[in-house]
Amino acid sequence: MKRVAILISGGGSNMVSLVDSMAGTHPARPVLVLANNADAGGLAKAQARGIATAVVDHRPFHGDRAAFETALRAAIDPHAPDILCLAGFMRVLTEGFVSAYAGRMLNIHPSLLPKYRGLHTHARALEAGDTEHGCTVHEVTPALDDGPILGQARVAIRSDDTPDTLAARVLEQEHRLYPAVLERFANGDRTRLDLD
Ligand code: GRF
Repeated sequence: MKRVAILISGGGSNMVSLVDSMAGTHPARPVLVLANNADAGGLAKAQARGIATAVVDHRPFHGDRAAFETALRAAIDPHAPDILCLAGFMRVLTEGFVSAYAGRMLNIHPSLLPKYRGLHTHARALEAGDTEHGCTVHEVTPALDDGPILGQARVAIRSDDTPDTLAARVLEQEHRLYPAVLERFANGDRTRLDLD
């Protein structure tokens, strides 16, 4: 059984989708949900599901990323995760941290990578006049939003879309894509999944 730690910063809707998918014959189970701030809404959702939680607030480290990541690892490693899932985790991780989990850390990003790395992806797709948008699950490598793509899901952009309405439709696809990719990944299958 693969042990999965999930890192969040906010409401944790992707975390909930992942946690709820790890049941029955699924080869993985959640062992930790960690947030970088104590008021992340996802913490209560994880606790309600009986999952161990931790908070490592990045602010006391005043930009000392290495020190923050040492504290992250001290909170994570006792749970001995086989896989790390970043799910709405809004801190950039350095090569030092990423290399410690090389080949076993996933992230979901709300764009069709390689388009729109970074933030405000929905507004950028709208500004560009794109006809479609979506989300990507990828392996995390030191370069931001850049690792091997493990899966994508697409949504059509509508003429009356705003960043918020588009984000809501993408989020629905995130909740389908991430659990599907995690199950394959936990089974050792890294072939790319493109959801219809
Ligand atoms: C989502 O748009 C996700 O793509 C991004 O963080 C946002 C919030 O995710 N990574 P969640 O509801 O906290 O899972």
